[in-house]
Amino acid sequence: ITTQVAIMGAGPAGLMLAHLLATAGIDSTVVEVRSHKDISETVRAGILEHGTVNMLVDSGVSDRVLRDGDRHDGIELRFNGESHRIDFKELVGESVWLYPQTDVFLDLAARRKADGGDVRYSVTETAVHNIEGKPKVWFTDADGVEYEIQAEFVVGADGSRSHCRFQVPEAHRKWYFHEYPFAWFGILAEAPHSADELIYANSANGFALISQRTQTVQRMYFQCNPKENVADWDDDRIWAEFRRRVNGNGFELKEGPVIDKMVLPFRSFVHTPMRHGNLFLAGDAAHTVPPTGAKGLNLAIHDVKVLFEGLDSYFRSGSTQLLDSFSSRALDRVWKAQQFSYWMTTMLHTPVDADDFSRARQLGELNSVVSSRHGMAYLAEAYTGWPSL
Ligand code: DHB
Repeated sequence: ITTQVAIMGAGPAGLMLAHLLATAGIDSTVVEVRSHKDISETVRAGILEHGTVNMLVDSGVSDRVLRDGDRHDGIELRFNGESHRIDFKELVGESVWLYPQTDVFLDLAARRKADGGDVRYSVTETAVHNIEGKPKVWFTDADGVEYEIQAEFVVGADGSRSHCRFQVPEAHRKWYFHEYPFAWFGILAEAPHSADELIYANSANGFALISQRTQTVQRMYFQCNPKENVADWDDDRIWAEFRRRVNGNGFELKEGPVIDKMVLPFRSFVHTPMRHGNLFLAGDAAHTVPPTGAKGLNLAIHDVKVLFEGLDSYFRSGSTQLLDSFSSRALDRVWKAQQFSYWMTTMLHTPVDADDFSRARQLGELNSVVSSRHGMAYLAEAYTGWPSL
């Protein structure tokens, strides 16, 4: 196969890039080790920044997000038994959309299919070679046929367990890690909305997040031990835990049968720079954020926006200027999002060794945010998404 850009990974980053390239007449082949079914059945986060929504709509992927998604103009921070609304619209004039990542994937995959894009799911034996020269990608397709792709560039959009990033020689990369002493226990439950907007709840018993999916299915999380085993948690125990963290002062969660449960990993990671030779990294392949604030997908889409501008400019004019600035432009937002996700996480979660001082200090921090227009505006600007550079 000869193509202009070989894309490793058919998640939102890889498919969005392939779509944007196609709109500019640039060829790509996407290879993905997972099956279409497997990706579409994985439950991921559900909040899209306005910039992400605009990209989906303006680039013609789909306007389903505007019809089936829900616009949210704010969130609630709940602590000390009281809820405090952060009014995004009023503070920074922006909103976010509740629209599951799974639907973003389905929209992108359907668009690639309708446009005749070359996307190979369920491949095996992938290998990337010669990223400092003319790159080659090997893979075996779902029918067992072996292929070699010759491309001008390779994009590693192969997720948090990226193989592509290992192609960058150790002397040319730096990895930044931060581990947290907790994880999230996530559920899907058959129940009506408990509130109009998402609730981020801090309590002495730990953090909980009350999110939504549809009128009849809700998504919720509570802070847990990373080694927690879902089999140890029946519905009664799960709801008792949510009640301890969220209910009170006249507020009660609407409960119902738990239809899915999982423990989500929690870490911060950045690979720099995001380019080596003719290999570019995008999305989770280059960075992971803890889930608090739902920045993962939005960052991936922003990486792709910046990378597309570079590739488009190169194939149009031969200029490498925008490709050369890709890594620093993408990383500018990555580090803002790392800071925001870390801040939301530490502000809202209960430290494992919480003493009286750290508990009282945390309430002071939360109070300093919700009692200050400037504090709330920082949160609102970050949550809804910074302007792109
Ligand atoms: C969801 C996940 C998040 O991490 C978040 O901050 C908000 C919402 C979700 O899955 O709905």
